[in-house]
Amino acid sequence: MTKEYTLIDKRSSAASHEIMGADESARKGHCDFADKNVLLIIAGGISAYKSLELIRLLKKFGIKTPAILTAGGQQFITPLSVSALSGEAVYTDLFSLKDESEMGHIQLSRQADLIVVVPASANIIARAANGMADDLACAVLLAANKDILICPAMNPQMWENKATQHNIETLQSRDIDILMPDSGEMACGEIGAGRLPDPEHICAEILSRLSGQAKPLTGYTALVTAGPTYEKIDPVRFIGNRSSGKQGYAIAQALYKQGAEVHLISGPTALTPPKGVHIYNVESADEMLDASLKALPADIAICTAAVSDWRVENAADQKLKKCDDGLAPILEFAQTPDILKTLAEHKTLRPTLLIGFAAETNNVDKNGRDKFKRKGCDALLVNEISAKNAVFGADHNRVDYLTQSPENKEINTDAWPYMSKAELANMLVSKIIQQLEKTKTIPHTQCSTPKLKATK
Ligand code: C5P
Repeated sequence: MTKEYTLIDKRSSAASHEIMGADESARKGHCDFADKNVLLIIAGGISAYKSLELIRLLKKFGIKTPAILTAGGQQFITPLSVSALSGEAVYTDLFSLKDESEMGHIQLSRQADLIVVVPASANIIARAANGMADDLACAVLLAANKDILICPAMNPQMWENKATQHNIETLQSRDIDILMPDSGEMACGEIGAGRLPDPEHICAEILSRLSGQAKPLTGYTALVTAGPTYEKIDPVRFIGNRSSGKQGYAIAQALYKQGAEVHLISGPTALTPPKGVHIYNVESADEMLDASLKALPADIAICTAAVSDWRVENAADQKLKKCDDGLAPILEFAQTPDILKTLAEHKTLRPTLLIGFAAETNNVDKNGRDKFKRKGCDALLVNEISAKNAVFGADHNRVDYLTQSPENKEINTDAWPYMSKAELANMLVSKIIQQLEKTKTIPHTQCSTPKLKATK
């Protein structure tokens, strides 16, 4: 069905849509947003003024925008300017007799279709992540029974700070949506990520949520392998590696958020599986291959797992004992199956889009390119494991994104900046969406039941 407003993918982020022709459509009265209510929480930050423009845009669609101004927000804009633009009440105090009698703080979220925190300062993000209810804004967020969209805006160092990133992850794990900030020059003169996206962009995100518009990956099936594998030596010992699974889990979550049906095949990790994703817990490379094959057909497959290259051929059924003669047991190794390559070479069920990862410690460029040719996948993300880019267990990553030109088969390298694994996941999913659109790939809807039973 054709939407009455047009969204175009303008930037790299999957969530990045810019509203086009909104004025036109609103004027024609085509959009049925008239009875919608978006509760805006405006926190402190130089970009608070952009929320005024957002109110103006939303109003064109007939959307009501009652607002809460935090104490910080009031340092940048006034309740009067917000109320004059929206024509709605503006709330500031948790313990205001007038505000509470007019509209209790619980009621504020009940009457809303969506709650949007714009701009969200590091402070309100931290307080919300910790379940604080020490002002009206946080009390409403805690009491909310509606979807919440948080639009962070702050200095790049504050945004990159582990504390903020941890808080963002906490909120995401509670299914609170984050609209990632833009990169560029900040009001403070520093350059980096932390800028509030344009009001048009935020407006488009709100409209897409209100209209229940199909997400770009709705109908597509994705298979993600993640984490390490454990190869048994005896019943109590194994050979493993340092993979935490964080990157794969972040990708599974990003795919799900864009509407994909996600099957996450995970080696042993300490992570909580993202909500909405089917999880299959495995231990060894053989089990991971078996689960991956059973999860086919899949439109998208992303192999992030650090699969052991060898298994122990002569694994013992009983615990190996130390010998009096001081001799150590001799382990014999055999190669494990290459899951990525097996998927790439699958005669009938090769995933339409197959993406691998490569972790290299040396000759990163050459090894990455060679691996890309060898594996037969459609894209490879190569990361250098070094003191600077620890990768395994870390929350951040830096990769080169390798693709092959369909025309001359040349390998293109796109050096992605250092970013959090969640941001990297979003960027990759954005590339996937672009690629599926470009190749006009239709989802495998007929194959929705893989022969695999989820662990949970
Ligand atoms: O050969 P290498 O382990 O460096 O290749 C890395 C890529 O191949 C990753 O995408 C990884 O998930 C995948 N792989 C695999 N099965 C293996 C080894 C690696 O799927 N046995």
